Amino acid sequence: MRVLGIESSCDETAAAVYCRREGLLAHAVHSQVADHAAYGGVVPELASRDHVRKLPGLVSGVLRDAGLEPQDLGGVAWTRGPGLPGALMVGAAYARTFAWARGLPAIGVHHMEGHLLAPLLEPDPPAMPLVALLVSGGHTMLVQVADFGRYRVLGESVDDAAGEAFDKTARLLGLPYPGGPSIARLAAEGTPGAVRLPRPMTDRPGLDFSFSGLKTAVLHAVEAAGDDPQGRADIAHGFQEAVVDTLVIKCRRAIEQTGARRLVVSGGVGANARLRERLAEAGEANGFTAHYPRLELCTDNAAMIAYTGLRRLEAGHRDDLDFSVRPRWPLAELR
Ligand code: KG4
Ligand code: ZN
Repeated sequence: MRVLGIESSCDETAAAVYCRREGLLAHAVHSQVADHAAYGGVVPELASRDHVRKLPGLVSGVLRDAGLEPQDLGGVAWTRGPGLPGALMVGAAYARTFAWARGLPAIGVHHMEGHLLAPLLEPDPPAMPLVALLVSGGHTMLVQVADFGRYRVLGESVDDAAGEAFDKTARLLGLPYPGGPSIARLAAEGTPGAVRLPRPMTDRPGLDFSFSGLKTAVLHAVEAAGDDPQGRADIAHGFQEAVVDTLVIKCRRAIEQTGARRLVVSGGVGANARLRERLAEAGEANGFTAHYPRLELCTDNAAMIAYTGLRRLEAGHRDDLDFSVRPRWPLAELR
């Protein structure tokens, strides 16, 4: 079966075709980052309008790249939530109509289940059971994955997401959005150990995260550094170490607690090279392996939506014609 995937939950418009036998046949992402940059964050109405403009062309493009006609598809998957209501509605309406017009089954999928399964899109995927670390701009979560559709949230952020902490810290340092890549670049010039920031909530048991306090610590450090470029690089370095260290400590705990031998990591922060390096070391020391999607599938994309949709369509899930979006949709409520 070949499934067309459509993603429009935030500021990326994406389309992809995933095939059960041949894997990922095509995928394309249009990022709106430049459109929102001047506003310092995503403007929902602009996001919706741009999805309307870009989606039809992206869908024709991936079908062309895959060498397929719409009638070669076996289903359509789209992101039902969580995300921006208007942005989700654009993808939902487009996908549902596309499927209806061609008599295809359609399925609305959970964006975070997409991220969670993204590492399994790659050749030689890790076997279940596993632990998933989801680290994006909107979420930080550890999830126990017994099997497809069998998820237990082990811990999550009680305030800011890890990606959000990168974005806010970048703003404090005067670096461009998205903050993750720009902080990682500046951190490479920092002196190890020069700035030591807290590792929130690691001194007590449990798998929840908190990153908002780190922001305050960064603010004080930025004020102290003034416009000394080395001082700012040291802060970026200290910040990245603090977030990465916190994530690694909690992953190790989740692995210990569940007895899993495999960790999958995805979401935008999963692209962070220092995180990957530290998790590889932790895995060697603690007997687990860490698995990632290729870099471009760590951030928002439709390949993960097509793949998740395919698994759900194969399990017999279908949408009715009267679909709805779920802007707020806790992963724990997913059935
Ligand atoms: O998954 P994603 O593309 O979007 C959602 O939030 O759903 O994640 C985006 C987040 C942003 O906060 C961005 O700063 C962060 O991922 N990010 C990174 C890196 N690349 C992107 N954070 C740390 N290091 C990176 N290399
Ligand atoms: Zn995402």
